[in-house]
Amino acid sequence: MAPIINTPIKKIAISTGGGDAPGLNAVIRAAALSAIKRGWEVYGVRDGFHGLLLPEEYPSGGLMPLTRERVSGITHLGGTILGTSNRNNPLKYPITLADGSVEEVDRSDEIVRAFRLHHIDALISVGGDGSLAISSVLAKKGLRLIAVPKTIDNDLDKTDVTFGFDTAVGFATESLDRLHSTAASHGRVMVVEVMGRYAGWIALHAGVSGSADVILIPEHPYDIHKVIEKIKEREQRGNHFTIVVVAEGATTIGGGASVVEHEAGRAERLGGVGEKVAAEIHAISGKETRLVVLGHLLRGGSPTSFDRLTALRFGAAAVRGLEEGQAGVMVALDPPHVKYVPIEEAIGKMKMVPMDSDIVLTALDLGISFG
Ligand code: F6P
Repeated sequence: MAPIINTPIKKIAISTGGGDAPGLNAVIRAAALSAIKRGWEVYGVRDGFHGLLLPEEYPSGGLMPLTRERVSGITHLGGTILGTSNRNNPLKYPITLADGSVEEVDRSDEIVRAFRLHHIDALISVGGDGSLAISSVLAKKGLRLIAVPKTIDNDLDKTDVTFGFDTAVGFATESLDRLHSTAASHGRVMVVEVMGRYAGWIALHAGVSGSADVILIPEHPYDIHKVIEKIKEREQRGNHFTIVVVAEGATTIGGGASVVEHEAGRAERLGGVGEKVAAEIHAISGKETRLVVLGHLLRGGSPTSFDRLTALRFGAAAVRGLEEGQAGVMVALDPPHVKYVPIEEAIGKMKMVPMDSDIVLTALDLGISFG
């Protein structure tokens, strides 16, 4: 059970950490206006927790006053007005030693002290799995905190969905629609790599909605020969083009995810699997093949109305939760309700695509191959 804290609140802060997701500004606006309505002062922490760890780097000491005027007209904007970072995790903060080697240190106590120094009574911490792990530690160290889940990947457990996912899926679907006509005109194979880390949600939802022929996701390691079979089957039916959606975390049977970079203090960066799949398809089938990596385009732009509404609901619910005395919990969507779950439960495991889910069964009934 998460603790209930009843001391009055006068001043709160909001932070946005990890990769950005469309809807962050809507959370900031809803939380700020809900707090102002209760007579609380609101501050935004700059760039994840950097604003508190390195205040000298910011003109205002790393905290941005969030007035009614400052949060006006931002609901529809992508990104976050506070800035964010998925580097320099405060729990594993990389310090370069005199000999050039890098040591990771835990700076969470400094963050708790910084909140006390600024007389901030509570924090709304918006972030993905990395930020939730940090939030859990800060809550255990006595910081009154409510977390708001965020990721385009939709891989966070204990919430039906996160904002940002719908926007990413919508953009990927539109991209697949556009690629169909050029693929068909040239009789080519188009390989489309999408983000999603170790889960295949974006690839699955966009692939089914955007009429892909093959969807490769981490939950089902692929066999490239099955992909070729699908291309040949389509050729025999007179369809000389094939659309293959590849999640960035997809792997071959027995293989590992394709990692482009692993830097201290941050999660490994995935990428490159689309290139590999496209090269193999061309080498084995001889078909002209092109690769499109949608990458960060999926994270940019204006949130869909669904993502705006979810984000606004989460921001307002976080403030209501603080007012009720909730702490150490994460706001979660459990349609039709927004509820609170202990952060501990949410960080327990990653939400993966169940291969027996009705969306996967729908895809199979439509003739889509998972390789
Ligand atoms: O978690 C969101 C996400 O966009 C993943 O889908 C992707 O693997 C990662 O972040 C990319 O991170 P970066 O912005 O550091 O390249």
